[in-house]
Amino acid sequence: MPLLQSEEGLFTKSSRMKYILGIPAAIFVVLGIVVIIINIIPDATNPGITLHPSQVVISYNSSHKHNEYITELDKFIEAYETPPANSITCNDTTTLGPEESCWFEDKWLGGVCVKNKWGYVNIANNTSPCILVTPNKVVGWVPETYSTKEELPNEMPQYLKNVIINDWHDRGSIYKWVWVSCEVVSGDGECSMTPWQGFPDYYFPYNDNTNYRSPILAPRINWRGTEKKRIEMRFQLWAKNINPSDTTVTIVIEADQPK
Ligand SMILES: *[C@@H]1O[C@H](CO)[C@@H](O)[C@H](O)[C@H]1NC(C)=O
Ligand SMILES: *[C@@H]1O[C@H](CO)[C@@H](O)[C@H](O)[C@H]1NC(C)=O
Ligand SMILES: *[C@@H]1O[C@H](CO)[C@@H](O)[C@H](O)[C@H]1NC(C)=O
Repeated sequence: MPLLQSEEGLFTKSSRMKYILGIPAAIFVVLGIVVIIINIIPDATNPGITLHPSQVVISYNSSHKHNEYITELDKFIEAYETPPANSITCNDTTTLGPEESCWFEDKWLGGVCVKNKWGYVNIANNTSPCILVTPNKVVGWVPETYSTKEELPNEMPQYLKNVIINDWHDRGSIYKWVWVSCEVVSGDGECSMTPWQGFPDYYFPYNDNTNYRSPILAPRINWRGTEKKRIEMRFQLWAKNINPSDTTVTIVIEADQPK
């Protein structure tokens, strides 16, 4: 029965092949699902802002050498320490290639907003804790930006209008950026933003590119009071195709009196 034997041999060989090919295939499928899930979770569906540290209340004692917020920020900034492949320093004339993304360099945050203590440890007399603001990653979302000061809406806080009109314009046009407002809701202090007052339009859209790094803004608190330092801040994102009130995030910062 040579035919049957050879058929049997064929069957055994092919099921062995299936087994051998099956393991990597299964691993591949599982990895694929994991990658899909990882990619879905951090992506939002509406434009908005994310704060780092992510806690709603930041409460710390600046006499202490370390805290959980420092740990979180140190970890967050790691992705910005070396430029990924195909990332370039952009400006408003940059045209990105299909694989390219605009780089954001951690050094641009400047001052005390650097990996180490982030202003949470009282080194000098007047510490100012850093929080970092990034835009949510919404695949394909392109901002419709304001192009003249007349287009800035009535609801926009007056201080933000003034900052844009005074500092972020070029030959009569305001920058085509997504603006971020930072308002002190309660407490004795002021908020100022570094390195910019908003996110440049060339960081959009996010195309699910692994080289992409969100731009970062660092609101700085200028404490005014000398009593226990507590401040509540509200952030909103501003562009024509955003409803700013849908993007509101607030954070409370409580710092101890130094010494
Ligand atoms: C902050 O920590 C220092 C050192 O541990 C301590 O002496 C001080 O009482 C703390 N401040 C408050 C307000 O708890
Ligand atoms: C703008 O960026 C491009 C690279 O994307 C660069 O070649 C050009 O020199 C930059 N222009 C200015 C004014 O910095
Ligand atoms: C803190 O303030 C005091 C008094 O104003 C000043 O003499 C001292 O040099 C300051 N210390 C630091 C580290 O800035």
